[in-house]
Amino acid sequence: MILYPHFDTNAAGHLTVGGMDTVALAREFGTPAYILDENVIRQNCRTYLSAARAHFGENALPLYASKALSFTGIYRIVAEEGLGIDCVSGGELYTAKNADFPAERIYFHGNNKTDADLRQALLMGVGTIVVDGMEELEALDAIARELGKTQKILLRITPGIDPHTHRAIMTGNVDSKFGNAIVTGQALAITKKALSLGGVVLAGFHCHIGSQIFDIEPFRDAADIMLKFIADVKAATNFEATELNLGGGLGVRYTEDDRGIDYADAIAKIAEIVREGAKKSGVAMPRVILEPGRSLVAAAGVTLYTVGSVKEIPGFRNYVSVDGGMPDNPRYALYGSQYTALIANRANDPKDYRATVAGRCCESGDLIGEGMALQAPRRGDILAVLCTGAYNYSMASNYNRLPRAPIVLVKDGKAKIAVRRESYEDLVRCDQK
Ligand code: LLP
Repeated sequence: MILYPHFDTNAAGHLTVGGMDTVALAREFGTPAYILDENVIRQNCRTYLSAARAHFGENALPLYASKALSFTGIYRIVAEEGLGIDCVSGGELYTAKNADFPAERIYFHGNNKTDADLRQALLMGVGTIVVDGMEELEALDAIARELGKTQKILLRITPGIDPHTHRAIMTGNVDSKFGNAIVTGQALAITKKALSLGGVVLAGFHCHIGSQIFDIEPFRDAADIMLKFIADVKAATNFEATELNLGGGLGVRYTEDDRGIDYADAIAKIAEIVREGAKKSGVAMPRVILEPGRSLVAAAGVTLYTVGSVKEIPGFRNYVSVDGGMPDNPRYALYGSQYTALIANRANDPKDYRATVAGRCCESGDLIGEGMALQAPRRGDILAVLCTGAYNYSMASNYNRLPRAPIVLVKDGKAKIAVRRESYEDLVRCDQK
């Protein structure tokens, strides 16, 4: 096992994912390629759903935050597993629709939904819209009335806490482009406004405190603040929220230094916290919604590359260049995110080589990682980067006109293409001559 039980090695000394030989997968599907272990995603969905139902009650609903990895097939998997989804754009809504995802289980997010987005969501019959601000609330109300609908909504609230994570992915602070702050009075003001409108019906509140969080304490802070807010709203307006969406954010193990999280146990703890908080604040236990993205899909993924140049600069460092890079995984360039890499075709050899793994773009910052421990690499080797299921494909670009890598789903010894590799024709598809 390497990081997670589904990453292992076989008798040939090759890295396997879900029991399948990654070197054979690279040969069959080419590189770079994202490989996803479907059983891991399904198992994570089941863990969240059964723990949420066991600890929050039968009406609890985990949503898959599909910004983490969005393509038609994933919405099918999530629909089959009985979760809802969080979509943040017209494009994600469209992809979910393409998969016939049940619209009533969609929560539509975003800090700046356009009128066209809102109309699209209403026409699709999206179950819940998480309203981010006053103008959006007014626009939604007007469009809903025009279409003769009454839309269920939640209001996004910023509880104003620091989940001790990377600043760029910290979204629950007061100083944020997202949501309505409690301390400034804006949260209560938008609540009153929502209650006064006929085109929307307010069910409750949403908050999201950040991402790649390992501690439960920030969730305690968030839940306590949100439940006290529910109580304050009740005192001020007589409206008692029936739904509380606590967002996503639980972390994953990218390297041996990250500890693993038992998600079922974390959900049990969060449930206890919410129950205590509700009692303390004197409000009824709301229906609780969780919104994990990363923790459902990250660990399922591995990206396979072919090693090209291996350059050793005496007195400086070693560069190992692969046939992908920041276009398929921008997370080191953006956040300095750490990953575990290995040479898949010699996975049992000692990792006694240190290298900067670089991509193939004309840009010095195009790196997958620095100081990465690897087996001594050679041109033609297959280099694997583990835990790339979240925020890799979904953040991919065509920088340097590199076609996007395919997604290959593996399950029970079989592999199938879920998203085919882009071609050069795809790259010019929208160009006018
Ligand atoms: N709900 C809301 C409202 C969110 O904004 C997010 C993530 C999630 C749920 C899911 O959070 P998760 O469970 O995946 O932590 N691109 C960054 C991550 C940005 C996360 C943005 N919001 C990265 O690559 O680390």
